[in-house]
Amino acid sequence: MKLSSMLMTGVALMAVSFSPCANAFKVGLLMPTQNEDRWYKEGFMLEKKLKKEGFETELFYGGDVDIELQKKQILRAANDGCNVLIIGSIDGSAISDPLNDAKKKGIAIISYDRLITGTDAVNYYATFDNEMVGHIQGKYLVDKLQLDSSYEPRNIELFYGSLNDNNAKFFWKGALEELQPYIDSGVVNIKSGVITPEAAQTPDWSDTEANKRMTKLIEENGYGPNGTKLDGVLCPADCIAKGVIFALKKAGYNSSNMPIITGQDATAEGLEQIKAGELAMTILKSPNALSDTVVNMVKSISKHEEVEINDTSTYNNGAKIVDSYLCMPELVDKTNIDKVLNM
Ligand code: BGC
Repeated sequence: MKLSSMLMTGVALMAVSFSPCANAFKVGLLMPTQNEDRWYKEGFMLEKKLKKEGFETELFYGGDVDIELQKKQILRAANDGCNVLIIGSIDGSAISDPLNDAKKKGIAIISYDRLITGTDAVNYYATFDNEMVGHIQGKYLVDKLQLDSSYEPRNIELFYGSLNDNNAKFFWKGALEELQPYIDSGVVNIKSGVITPEAAQTPDWSDTEANKRMTKLIEENGYGPNGTKLDGVLCPADCIAKGVIFALKKAGYNSSNMPIITGQDATAEGLEQIKAGELAMTILKSPNALSDTVVNMVKSISKHEEVEINDTSTYNNGAKIVDSYLCMPELVDKTNIDKVLNM
């Protein structure tokens, strides 16, 4: 996000008129999966906060990242009389049809954490500064591997998130902006030669896929405690780091020689791995901050008031630039983990 837009705090008026709340105002919550820590917890957290504010809610989890199921759930929520849908999409580009139907019914759509693309039916986007997440991860590798003063090349491997998640692009962009100068100068060596999102992708953010790819990288490049030194692995999220760490441990690595591995989400497992010296860092994206942002959006929409946003330029979804509210991500490593554990 540009500094100018970061500093700007704005408000946006609803461009469409929403269906009048005849009885209770109802909110449909659609989370992409119940099998990942953050989505599971955040679905319930949002539901609780909305109910506390007096809203009726309907909560759906998209099975195990089942796109067809999520499409049906959107139709169901729209037909059940929801006034607002809060959607954490599985594939942000695959749900235009049900959303265009919802728009015709006057339902407001809030894109939750992941941008929904290819449709103007989305009204607001609540997320974190995703590019900043990537910068924090990339910069961490630069600092911990002392790339600025290194005379020996460092071996790093890169993992990309799921190709169908718009956020993955931003994480990669931020991280690569930090690392690219060192790749270009040869201080960073990517032995596998894999530096494109397509080749470095982790379908559905799956830890199993990450584990498979890391195992292959170890075999093909001879990485190991007694083999070629691997200095760092850029992992965009804890779930990917989990699969990578399992593969490295199987190859004989332990906390005394583990490469610097990045993560995101401050999952319970990720925090345990930081304590154990396996994961170097993660990123806290405060579920409270994001859910409060979304609840405030719903409150404003329900009262036909202006919705608070702080970014009007970063998120072009292919159909329009979506009015967004970006929360701030925070770096967590062993030096400040206690703060998170005591939250
Ligand atoms: C989210 C990350 C999460 C990843 C995998 C991304 O869209 O922004 O917080 O780690 O999905 O679930």
